[in-house]
Amino acid sequence: MIPQDFLQQLLDRTDIVAVVERYVPLKKAGANYQARCPFHNEKSPSFSVSPTKQFYHCFGCGAHGTAITFLMEHAGMPFVEAVKELAGQVGMRVPDDGNRRPPEEESRRDGMFERMEAAANFYRKNLKGNEKAVDYLKKRGLTGEAAARFGIGYAPEGWQGLRDALADYADPLLAEIGLVIVNEDKRYDRFRDRVMFPIRNERGQAIAFGGRVLGAGEPKYLNSPETPLFHKGRELYGLYEHRRAIQGDNRVVVVEGYMDVVMLDQHGVHNAVATLGTAITADQATRLLRLADDVVFAFDGDNAGRKAAWRALENSLAQAQDGKRLSFLFLPEGEDPDSFVQAQGADAFRALCAGAMPLSDFLFAELTAQTELGSQEGQVRLAKLMEPYLDKLGQAPLLKRMLQQRLAGLTGLEPPRAPRGQRGVAAPSPPRGRAAVQPSAWQITLQAILHDTTRATRMVELPESERPEAVALTTVVALLREHPEMGRREIVDHFAGQPEHAVLIHAEAGLLDWDEKYDVEADFQGALNTLSTQAGRAQARELSGRRPSELTPEEKTRLLAALQRRKPDPT
Ligand code: UTP
Ligand code: MN
Repeated sequence: MIPQDFLQQLLDRTDIVAVVERYVPLKKAGANYQARCPFHNEKSPSFSVSPTKQFYHCFGCGAHGTAITFLMEHAGMPFVEAVKELAGQVGMRVPDDGNRRPPEEESRRDGMFERMEAAANFYRKNLKGNEKAVDYLKKRGLTGEAAARFGIGYAPEGWQGLRDALADYADPLLAEIGLVIVNEDKRYDRFRDRVMFPIRNERGQAIAFGGRVLGAGEPKYLNSPETPLFHKGRELYGLYEHRRAIQGDNRVVVVEGYMDVVMLDQHGVHNAVATLGTAITADQATRLLRLADDVVFAFDGDNAGRKAAWRALENSLAQAQDGKRLSFLFLPEGEDPDSFVQAQGADAFRALCAGAMPLSDFLFAELTAQTELGSQEGQVRLAKLMEPYLDKLGQAPLLKRMLQQRLAGLTGLEPPRAPRGQRGVAAPSPPRGRAAVQPSAWQITLQAILHDTTRATRMVELPESERPEAVALTTVVALLREHPEMGRREIVDHFAGQPEHAVLIHAEAGLLDWDEKYDVEADFQGALNTLSTQAGRAQARELSGRRPSELTPEEKTRLLAALQRRKPDPT
């Protein structure tokens, strides 16, 4: 962990405009800079960068963050790398702290990467000289360019082929990274006589391999085990190669196999990635949803495919967000994306993706198939079955409500009522274009506090409300009471992954419209007055609804004060 205050100082010294400008041409527009958003496809610029407030925001897709997140999400740098890069530019040294990897471990890791690279090079060179392997790939329709693009190679027959690639075959690191198997005093290559697919991390380094037998044989694919470099549930095959295309298309297709990714790419579909022989994990789904608004899961059209699709649905529901689209594509029986694109071409495959079944339809189709909707018992059963799935939609409140309504249509059961204050209006899904809506007193207060977090000490009594801004404001104020030193950036980052985060990002984005002339203080005061009057009224209503004899003396005083506050100010 790099300490928060270091990050804060780093961001204070960094010029975000200069950082973004290296990747995206910016135009000055008022106090801010604008561009067509680099995170999604658009015709008119809705991407803004604020030089004074040091963040960027896209009003189209909701992309939002600091110079650090920009380097991570746009340039694909891992967090530490991005921090180092910026620190280098402003002449700061990234501090060491207890949690960082000690230097010995860092160099061990470097050693692992080096050995993986040596192996990948060795496999790649071997493919060229091996007629059997080249023939196999040619028969499958693969071109040399595609093989080169994905660094595909061949692991030779024989037990210790890697001896030719590595200086020291007895090196224990080789077993740790899964290249060599040690059995008592024997050592041998894990991968022998297989076509090798390197799995790369976001920086393009080989971290694992998948090896396919030529023709028939078991297992069909042999994969690297979990190693310090490789965690199967986190990585996605093809993500390194396809990240830009995915961002450009604003769509990613998740397929099941290595060959599917490679063949699609060869035929012009550059936005596919594959999970590594397992169902998609929440972690993977989150990563993909950061890159694109539209995630299509593609499956074979058989029973196994349908089962796999259901597992993908279960694992990704909690990651669904309003404004994003998760859908399920079932290929015709007996086809996979590889065979389909070879037979029908890229456009046909894209058309399939565009017509994929939305998550909501898939959910209803599967669950209604398990129930007998002709009877009330069946309808109740459907409602029961649906419940746990709807509960997972914490990040997609609007979708959840629509599904509840749809369920109500099928069962005749009343959908639960929306929480007060949320009815009719959208919870803060990423804003589309700047609507000329008057911000609420809650919103103004929240923004003023983000603008200057010391304002939190001046809070008044607030009315009760379940509006998302109200909940966020209360939580932020409580946090600032504990940690008055926290600044805007730390507050927003603190809530990453929590329901308040979207609200805070939305509020922060609103700051982009505040130029130097805007009188924040006046609006803040006005908003506080409004809220405190509302609180007073609510309290008076509550207390005056009770019998005077039931009120404690303290409550009577409060009631009186509240009634006074309701009277128009005599001055
Ligand atoms: P499939 O069996 O659908 O194979 O496995 P495929 O991708 O169509 O492979 P080809 O076209 O016959 O070469 C899908 C994915 O499941 C994992 C691999 O990641 C594979 O790409 N898998 C499959 C394994 O890890 N091990 C296996 O033995 C089989
Ligand atoms: Mn296949």
